[in-house]
Amino acid sequence: MIRIALPKGRLGDKVLAQFEAAGYACPEIHTPSRKLVFSTDEVSYFYVKPSDVPIYVERGVADIGVAGSDILMEYEPDVYSLLDLGIGKCRICVAAKAEFEDDYGRPLRVATKFKNVASKYYSSLGRTIDIIKLNGSIELAPILGLSDVIVDIVETGTTLKENGLVVKEEIAPISARLIANKTSYKFNSAQITDLQKKLQEQRKD
Ligand code: PRP
Repeated sequence: MIRIALPKGRLGDKVLAQFEAAGYACPEIHTPSRKLVFSTDEVSYFYVKPSDVPIYVERGVADIGVAGSDILMEYEPDVYSLLDLGIGKCRICVAAKAEFEDDYGRPLRVATKFKNVASKYYSSLGRTIDIIKLNGSIELAPILGLSDVIVDIVETGTTLKENGLVVKEEIAPISARLIANKTSYKFNSAQITDLQKKLQEQRKD
């Protein structure tokens, strides 16, 4: 049986649909309940917070999982990244008020959930920053004057637009990735490779 960590929420529903279309159906998962683990003879699915998927996979309680490349860039888990699923596409960007001009005379105040991504990006530019780690509703920070810019996910751009913010720089394109525990991959390579191939056939570009 393959143990699969799925990300809860928007992306998770799309990912499950891809796994099911690839032949890994689990009818029980569609029955409303408070259950957390859903199993058939072939697979065992469980939903976790998107940023926790790599933790379950890295520690081997899930053989495989699906995580956004933003999460992988941020946490750099020791896992194999097997496949770009071609869904959950968005961008990680620097955004600010349209009129914002950087003042190189002082550190740039950056609000973000992606502390490592932001630190590496500005370090590559040689720009000194003051990181403000937030856990959600990042767009509020420049509006209220908590930060100069944000480093955050932009999908449709609606959240920025409705809050008077604009993209200033793009850091990286993002999409959902199939990841695998290194030991599981070694010992169940036939099973995991088979699943990977079937998912690859479903891949949307
Ligand atoms: C993400 C991101 C933006 C929004 C972007 O937030 O942090 O706020 O989606 O999407 P858009 O470009 O389509 O408007 P999420 O919904 O994950 O919630 P959060 O506030 O908890 O980060």
